[in-house]
Amino acid sequence: MTRAIYPGSFDPVTKGHLDIITRTSKIMTHLTVAVLDNPRKVATFTIEKRIEMLKLVTESYPNVEVEYFNGLLIDYALKKDTNIIVKGLRAISDFEFEFQMALVNQKLNPAIETLFMMTNSKYSYLSSSIVKEIAALGGDISSLVPEVLLDMIVTKFK
Ligand code: PNS
Repeated sequence: MTRAIYPGSFDPVTKGHLDIITRTSKIMTHLTVAVLDNPRKVATFTIEKRIEMLKLVTESYPNVEVEYFNGLLIDYALKKDTNIIVKGLRAISDFEFEFQMALVNQKLNPAIETLFMMTNSKYSYLSSSIVKEIAALGGDISSLVPEVLLDMIVTKFK
């Protein structure tokens, strides 16, 4: 049984996130998509909305669950009985920060392994910030977010 966690802010969920979830769920026996509930960071979408979005896009994935967490990721991993953290890598610019996080988490708990999933080239430019920027300026985000979430996201910026 190989369990893993895919953590993130998911503010909002993009097609890039869903691609990582889909591909990881085929490799792992069980995947927890974990939304960081960070009271120090103002998010555009509430934690409840982000969880609702993730549950909507993963409802047909039998081995994927969606939860929120706060505190240290390594403590949450322990609670979820896994030592595998999955992160998506889009570009070289992601690498430095992700490498640092992976090493910090490994320092805090040497049993923790961070696995990087390379982005699908279709989504290498895509981020939640880009989606928010385009939506706020009235642009078309239909190719950037899962179809089932489109209205929810567009409405937020009206
Ligand atoms: O989608 P994001 O914003 O890039 O996700 C970042 C996330 C949630 C993975 C990261 O901020 C995180 O793991 N936060 C939990 C606190 C923690 O454990 N930090 C690492 C040690 S400093």
